[in-house]
Amino acid sequence: MKPIAPDRLPALLRLMPKAELHIHIEGSLEPELIFALAQRNGLSLPYADVQALRRAYAFSNLQSFLDIYYAGASVLVQEQDFYDMARAYLRRAAADNVLHTEIFFDPQTHTARGVAMDSVINGLHRACVDARAQTGISASLILCFLRHLSEQDAFATLEQALPLRDKFIGVGLDSSELGHPPENFSRVFARCRELGLRLVAHAGEEGPPSYIWSALDVLKVERIDHGVRCVQDALLMQRLARDRIPLTVCPLSNHRLGVCASLAEHKLGQLLDAGIVATVNSDDPAYFGGYLNDNLVQTFAATGLRAEHAYSLSHNSFEASFIAASEKRGFQDKLQDLFETFP
Ligand code: HPA
Ligand code: ZN
Repeated sequence: MKPIAPDRLPALLRLMPKAELHIHIEGSLEPELIFALAQRNGLSLPYADVQALRRAYAFSNLQSFLDIYYAGASVLVQEQDFYDMARAYLRRAAADNVLHTEIFFDPQTHTARGVAMDSVINGLHRACVDARAQTGISASLILCFLRHLSEQDAFATLEQALPLRDKFIGVGLDSSELGHPPENFSRVFARCRELGLRLVAHAGEEGPPSYIWSALDVLKVERIDHGVRCVQDALLMQRLARDRIPLTVCPLSNHRLGVCASLAEHKLGQLLDAGIVATVNSDDPAYFGGYLNDNLVQTFAATGLRAEHAYSLSHNSFEASFIAASEKRGFQDKLQDLFETFP
């Protein structure tokens, strides 16, 4: 790899082709859109204006964030609301040179309020189709079960979504982690596996390394979302590296939720240097202060990561994605070209 001056790194990071694999679409809802949708749906919000809402985004841990995140999502009612939210994210992602994205959505947050499953999935899916046609970005959907609810509720959600099976590629597990270990969802994940759905789960964000082990060995997930607490378990780090199990890491989220004390102390470099297939992602960009390129540029500046790490992160993001091997190679060839021609 030819040397790249440190002051050229931000430009390189922005230009790099990349895949985003850990983005909650409800977490891309910007305050301006929250207010616009509230008005469209005749709902009132407990905040005077956009600035007052933004001021409430001072989180101390995962739960304090989730409380505000679920409140924000309550303005989503009609299919068009889901469409507008996803279209805005996809435009923003394309501007960051995201070529492919796998988008999480939380149907239970909406169906519990009486919103139809069809409205959620059809709105999001139509936005993915239109974005592909208009900007070329490729996008697929992953349905997440809320782990603070029961496995029975997850099964009911799966049943409601199955008529739309061709519009999502997999399932995940998110929401409050502590006290809700992956193994509570073993049966519903086994069923999803039989159905040919791809499997991922949040584990090791606030929860212990044992949750990462059980996501792998009980749920049999193919990727771990966050997973940064694996650094507390040397054997687990070896397992992740040996089996090339990707971690979808979200540095700005980790900093804002107190998973790491400062961005400078983030363990991304340690994960990459241990040979783990780590990727960088935005998680909930409207709440954590930045989209994918912001996550990359700020984390590299704070931790002193170098051009070879940038290359690995882009390469890993395609490797870790659920696209066909030939498409992965096509995107990775673009990465190679950029590194060869970058001034
Ligand atoms: N963790 C768990 N659940 C979530 C998150 C997260 O970072 N973001 C949105 N739902
Ligand atoms: Zn997440």
